[in-house]
Amino acid sequence: MLEDRKILVAVTGGIAAFKAISLCSMLKKQGAEVRVILTDNALRFVSPLSFSAITRHPVATTLWKENGEIPHIDLADWADIIVIAPATANIIAKCAHGIADDLLSSTFLAVTGPVLFVPAMNVHMLENPATQANLALLKQRGCFTIEPEHGILACGYEGKGRYPENEEILYYIRAYLQYTRDWAGKKVMITAGACRESIDPMRYISNRSSGKMGLALARAASIRGAEVTLITADVTEIIPAYLPAIKVSSAAEMYDACLKSYSNHELVIMAAAVSDYRPTYEQKSKIKKGENLQLELVRTKDIISEMAQKKNDGQIICGFAAESENIIEYAREKMLRKGLDCIIANNLKVAGAAATNCHFISPSLEMELSGDKFDVALQILDLLKTIGGDNDD
Ligand SMILES: Cc1cc2nc3c(=O)[nH]c(=O)nc-3n(C[C@H](O)[C@H](O)[C@H](O)COP(=O)(O)O)c2cc1C
Repeated sequence: MLEDRKILVAVTGGIAAFKAISLCSMLKKQGAEVRVILTDNALRFVSPLSFSAITRHPVATTLWKENGEIPHIDLADWADIIVIAPATANIIAKCAHGIADDLLSSTFLAVTGPVLFVPAMNVHMLENPATQANLALLKQRGCFTIEPEHGILACGYEGKGRYPENEEILYYIRAYLQYTRDWAGKKVMITAGACRESIDPMRYISNRSSGKMGLALARAASIRGAEVTLITADVTEIIPAYLPAIKVSSAAEMYDACLKSYSNHELVIMAAAVSDYRPTYEQKSKIKKGENLQLELVRTKDIISEMAQKKNDGQIICGFAAESENIIEYAREKMLRKGLDCIIANNLKVAGAAATNCHFISPSLEMELSGDKFDVALQILDLLKTIGGDNDD
């Protein structure tokens, strides 16, 4: 996924510095070439040996070399992206104000490509108006940042400031190697997961959707700057903190949540597997085991058709169709019948595989998409931009 990409990981003197070791390892496993800068204060927390062994490159720790290298220029020119993880309040302040008094801050000034800051610190340091103003300044100048997570911090406080999961940082890196925040200013509603219909207090009927494609779309849209409203039924993945979700369970709850939210979103992507049927009656107490049982089912409401009928001018509604045969034909028919702007056709026979294979279908386009779910999500967003008439970049 990151084959031949050159990633400079810069580690500063925060308590989460040790987490950057596993970030480097994950980047290497995805095929990236990784080089590392450690600040003087990072060296108090972690040893260069761990990083050099993982990256197979010496770690850069000083501006001053007498062998002809100029490390801050050489590294700035070499990197496709710089990831400062963790980023201390100190380096954020220095970068915001153009101070260049060590290797990392000098490299930052010499870089012309993307820079991603992963701030991690005590909640009061983070909330300090100086830190907030410095982060705002960096964002305004085109740097990328990841919101720190909320939780128990190493200093003992509870609050915002935790280093996020490295898996999430990888998604940001993958996105910002190709894109800027090109969806900023857009509101996107995305549904994900499998609805559950109660039979009795213990049992339910559901389907095999994992919710991963919907979450990948929500991640991709959010990282690319969109304001995302995520509505989730049952999903198999932990939802990252930067994607606050409206949680529902049944198709009826999904209907209420979608109809309440969708009208002020430019784009609606319905990736959830909403139940087509629900038991006619939900038993209030557990059905006792006995002879064979007949379960009567009734149709649930068709959420996407109703939204498509009532949609505003310029609003895009994108559906999903999971099919096991005649995939493209059935999906196209569904798109036309429900009045959708486009549909993603998923082949159930290859669903669940690490590589996703699906087709993007609109009235004027049909395109096969492949890659892992995040790659496919990025490609779907590219295609959705062209439908929205936003194809000027
Ligand atoms: C035990 C300890 C933990 C620290 N953790 C953090 C931290 O998580 N985030 C942060 O911004 N600063 C933290 N600091 C303060 C920084 O180390 C200090 O601001 C230092 O100047 C940062 O240097 P650097 O940005 O050049 O690496 C910590 C300091 C100590 C002593």
